[in-house]
Amino acid sequence: MNTDVEYVKQAKESFNRILSNQKYAEIIKDENHLSLLLDLVSGSEYRTILDIGTGTGYLAFPLAEKFPNACVCGIDIAEGIVEKNNAAVREKGISNLSFQVFDGLSFPFSVESVDLIVTRYAFHHFPNATNAVLQMNKILQKGGAVLVSDPMRNENDENRVIDQFMKVKKDGHIRFYSSGELEGLFVGNGFRKGTQVITDMKFPFSRQEDYVNIYEQTTEREKALYNITNDSGVVWVKHIDVGNTVFVKQ
Ligand SMILES: C[S@@+](CC[C@H](N)C(=O)[O-])C[C@H]1O[C@@H](n2cnc3c(N)ncnc32)[C@H](O)[C@@H]1O
Repeated sequence: MNTDVEYVKQAKESFNRILSNQKYAEIIKDENHLSLLLDLVSGSEYRTILDIGTGTGYLAFPLAEKFPNACVCGIDIAEGIVEKNNAAVREKGISNLSFQVFDGLSFPFSVESVDLIVTRYAFHHFPNATNAVLQMNKILQKGGAVLVSDPMRNENDENRVIDQFMKVKKDGHIRFYSSGELEGLFVGNGFRKGTQVITDMKFPFSRQEDYVNIYEQTTEREKALYNITNDSGVVWVKHIDVGNTVFVKQ
């Protein structure tokens, strides 16, 4: 099995388990963040909107409501949640929303068939980010946009300490991109950078020896970059910037 496929397998096993956990679904909800993302894509009309790594459809359901003339599709590697979302669509009688399973590597859309792509808290799971951006470029209409919302590596975290913590969970975390790295990926592959709004988030890791071990090997300077603390055996990231960035296909 190649490494990309292995990463997707790992992510799929993990997310099939955790997405059905109501507590997890609550943790990644953030109404202010949702409003911000909806604002960032308002002001245009779309025919086709794609939400990559849709999870519970936290963004896809409101997008379908906000853009009743658009066809919204949420794709994810976790088939359990896709089935559940489609059942909710049927139950609510929503006519412009559907969910689809995909392999985590190839977006199942044809050339220039999409007007807007959104992806919230999923970009760091893409095994081959360059390939993902190239595919986004291919399936978007000219002038189409991508809204990427994802936590960002601090530019001064040269050792990628944050990724060392994130990889303990074995949920297919690949890497967090700094603002500059993300811009380089998109601008180098046919996009221009549009609006960017920085928000932030904080989260605890589960109570596990592995996190404490990494914490102990992390320098004070590195801890300060994300305000990482050890609160009685629970390691916290108390401040990480989230980039909410629009890139427009040239
Ligand atoms: C943290 S959740 C975010 C879910 C949703 N976007 C939200 O904001 O609530 C990350 C999502 O990315 C999905 N994912 C993991 N690897 C992926 C990949 N290679 N391609 C697309 N989605 C992936 C997971 O299944 C999960 O639904």
